[in-house]
Amino acid sequence: MTGQKPYFLTTAIDYVNNLPHIGTAYEKICADVLARFKRLEGGPVFFLMGNDEHSVNVKKEALARGLHPQAYCDRMAIQFREIWTKLGISCDCFIRTTDDCHAKAVTALFREIHRKGDIYLSRYSGLYCDSCEAFFREKELVEGKCPLHGTEPRRIEEDNYFFALSRYADRIEEHIRKGRILVLPEIRRNEILNIIRGGLEDISISRSSFDWGIPLPIEPNHVVYVWFDALINYISAAGYGWDQDRFNRTWPADLHIVGKDITRFHCIIWPAMLMSAGLEIPRLVFGHGFVYLKGEKMSKTLGNVVSPMELMNLFGPDALRYYLLRDTSFGKDGNFTYENFQERYNRDLANDLGNLLQRLVTMVHRYRQGILPPPHEETEADESLRKSCLGLYPAVRDFLNPLRGDIDFHLALTRIWDTIRLANQYIDHLAPWELFKQGDQDRLNTVIYYAAECLRMLGVVLSPFLPHTASALLRQLGEQEGPENLCLEALTQWGRLPAGSRVSTPIPLFPRIVESEGKPSASAPPTRSEDEPAAIEKTVSFEMFQSLELRAGRILDAERVPKTQKLLKLTVDTGQLRTLVAGIGKSYEPEDLKGRDVVVVTNLEPVRIRGILSEGMVLAAGSDDRVVLLGYAGPVEPGEKIR
Ligand code: MSP
Repeated sequence: MTGQKPYFLTTAIDYVNNLPHIGTAYEKICADVLARFKRLEGGPVFFLMGNDEHSVNVKKEALARGLHPQAYCDRMAIQFREIWTKLGISCDCFIRTTDDCHAKAVTALFREIHRKGDIYLSRYSGLYCDSCEAFFREKELVEGKCPLHGTEPRRIEEDNYFFALSRYADRIEEHIRKGRILVLPEIRRNEILNIIRGGLEDISISRSSFDWGIPLPIEPNHVVYVWFDALINYISAAGYGWDQDRFNRTWPADLHIVGKDITRFHCIIWPAMLMSAGLEIPRLVFGHGFVYLKGEKMSKTLGNVVSPMELMNLFGPDALRYYLLRDTSFGKDGNFTYENFQERYNRDLANDLGNLLQRLVTMVHRYRQGILPPPHEETEADESLRKSCLGLYPAVRDFLNPLRGDIDFHLALTRIWDTIRLANQYIDHLAPWELFKQGDQDRLNTVIYYAAECLRMLGVVLSPFLPHTASALLRQLGEQEGPENLCLEALTQWGRLPAGSRVSTPIPLFPRIVESEGKPSASAPPTRSEDEPAAIEKTVSFEMFQSLELRAGRILDAERVPKTQKLLKLTVDTGQLRTLVAGIGKSYEPEDLKGRDVVVVTNLEPVRIRGILSEGMVLAAGSDDRVVLLGYAGPVEPGEKIR
């Protein structure tokens, strides 16, 4: 960490009684966008995440598997980190509440609060929900059950240490009202103020009937209550209790990002604990909305969990990031539906962004041998594209600035997509293929250069949102990956792409998803192409026919695609190995296909079918229920061209 105070950004630390789901992933993705955007702007950032390991449910899960809780937490930590890495989450520190530094911080803070006289022993009797890890008052229950989990809370009666939260009620209210601790969005701020005005009670912060936790420094037979323990992660990662210099440089947190269900812990209990110990309070708490599965809250306890890992394996991490960021307003609740996911993927990612890059790279190859030409005089159309690109940074910066009262990832992406669509229209209207035919070299050079430079700026501005896509895009434009190309200047200066640089061969960023049974999806592929005739004709020209690449292929392996009768996944040697999904499952058994020679269309645009990338098509006669594969009368070698 450098000498300058970093922008200190945190997410909630997750319970590890289950793996991440779409809801917990959503929070981490949003925080990651902010961290990446801040880094892009050039400031130092400290982005903290972690796991919350000392909970009743974590211990239960461990014991159910015959594991010591520590061994169980170690295993889960590996899996959590693997998922976050795959999702492109760029945290600078991943804290676990079983880390030594955390135990030191908890012990130090506990002692300090105790020294201030804010901790006392008393007998406690209350209703406790294990899933919330929280006490409820009788009146907060719904028909005697936890309002979130629908389960009956347990009555707990034991000697507990208490934290004198009530002493801080007035000061916390004043801090929130005066904006010394900003609570966003507005609806959460009002909720919190209402809770405080309803009266705050002291809270129990130790357990004697439970042994999985950090022992109380003043009474080793008690362990620290999981929430008191968990909140302290934010200062333990910053160095509290083990590295005072680091702590002085890092604290306070600039932004705690947490879900709406736990905002109250962060805006009431946490500031009170810090105030008691004489530490600075966090500057901003954002309580985001929930992602539901068609209206029902996703929860580890309820079990209706969509696995981010599964979706990532099928469609790539950025498709998931894009969908969650674009389809939900951060402060409000959102709904996950597979239909919307697929529609956004095909329309926004495959057709708009993917197609724009594909068109540009193809043009550079077709008209300029893969070398980016220099631009000439700027016309009005060029100017409006350039201005739209230069407007990206200020617009996105504002949408991501919480001091406006909200953080609007979906609006930032909408603004970016305005430029993507404008760039596609720019190509449609200026028709480079016509300029090529007319021999208007200067205009053609300008249009190609402007579209390429626009894509470069799009790559940079997209890098916080879709980091993998941004890298792939910039690489195809011939840009080196490095801080010199991912920085504020790269986002605010037009014309940085050097003329004369070589673009790579086109690789589709987002192969379109087609419906599971092989039918085209609801969103049609873009029909525009720089050299396609405007209308589909009944006959095709010889050139068009020649552009189709047919090769001899040998099936090396075949298996059924789960949950369909019709689809088979084939591994085919066509001179190079490729995977194809073919709708021949009702007529062929996989084991009968191995070693069979087939005719393959090898230059068909790849598509995703049931999450499998299908790179071509085997030719067959007949209809769905009776399909006959085309074959050969004599021997052929895999890869031979068919003429
Ligand atoms: N361990 C506590 C947090 C302690 S922070 C000092 C906890 N863990 S959790 O695993 O249940 O939730 C982690 C985060 O994910 C929380 O901010 C929570 O609000 C958020 N979400 C849990 N389910 C969610 C959705 N369905 N949608 C969006 N966010 C969700 O709470």
